[in-house]
Amino acid sequence: MPKYLGKLAVLYQGLGDIEPYQQLATRLAVPLHQSLDAGIQEEFFLAWRDGCLKLLDKELLKKGGLTVDVAPRAGEQRSWPAPKDGALSQALGRKTKTVVDATTGWGQDSLHIFRMGYEVTCIERSPVMAELLADGFARLAQEDWMQRLNLQAPKLLAGNSINLLANLEQAPDCIYLDPMFPPKRKKSALPKKSMTILRDLLGDDDDKEQLFAAAMAATGKRVVVKSPDHAEPLGEPNASFSGKLLRYDVYLKG
Ligand SMILES: C[S@@+](CC[C@H](N)C(=O)[O-])C[C@H]1O[C@@H](n2cnc3c(N)ncnc32)[C@H](O)[C@@H]1O
Repeated sequence: MPKYLGKLAVLYQGLGDIEPYQQLATRLAVPLHQSLDAGIQEEFFLAWRDGCLKLLDKELLKKGGLTVDVAPRAGEQRSWPAPKDGALSQALGRKTKTVVDATTGWGQDSLHIFRMGYEVTCIERSPVMAELLADGFARLAQEDWMQRLNLQAPKLLAGNSINLLANLEQAPDCIYLDPMFPPKRKKSALPKKSMTILRDLLGDDDDKEQLFAAAMAATGKRVVVKSPDHAEPLGEPNASFSGKLLRYDVYLKG
């Protein structure tokens, strides 16, 4: 049973065509609400706002909600491809061309990798996140620079990577993993709202070891695992590159 059942509803507040909302509620098998009265049980909502599909909790209902943000990050070069610099591209490897992100989430790492010019395929097992990603990638495809350069948005596969990685048509140069690790007990910095909402909706990813084994079996050359700097590595990495409060562990295929 999906973890979001009972916690999530689609919310239509009278703006625009109701049909996409009905279809989304049917695809996810969740209720469709047309107002927020006191009796509503769910804590999370999906709704289109400002042309984007957004995930909201009760706190975000007024503030606006979370969406797959397809704009380059602050400080990132806006031309395509952006330079391959920083710890992430060092971990992906100089010769890497194709990357499968097997834990796509909000797509921020995938999109960063895509903007550096790698060919990216995305896998996400949460049907809710897959809906948000499909909406984001459709918006990305409409961006002027994407059209001008005749680029396709990353391919999105909805399902569990533990199964899907075994059936890839071609082994990618790199499989990238960023599973959800349990939070540190003594909190030093507040995690981002987008990550806390993901944890509240989906829980931790307790099958990281299985996913790591599936990635090592399916990759052509390497697996990169992003983890908080306090977390134990999933295996014995061949190299590690440190970023801000995080680490990219690199495992080369023997
Ligand atoms: C920490 S988030 C990833 C955040 C992402 N790197 C970003 O930049 O937004 C982890 C995501 O991986 C997904 N995930 C975890 N295990 C998976 C698996 N075996 N197959 C597919 N998706 C998985 C979870 O559903 C969750 O959305």
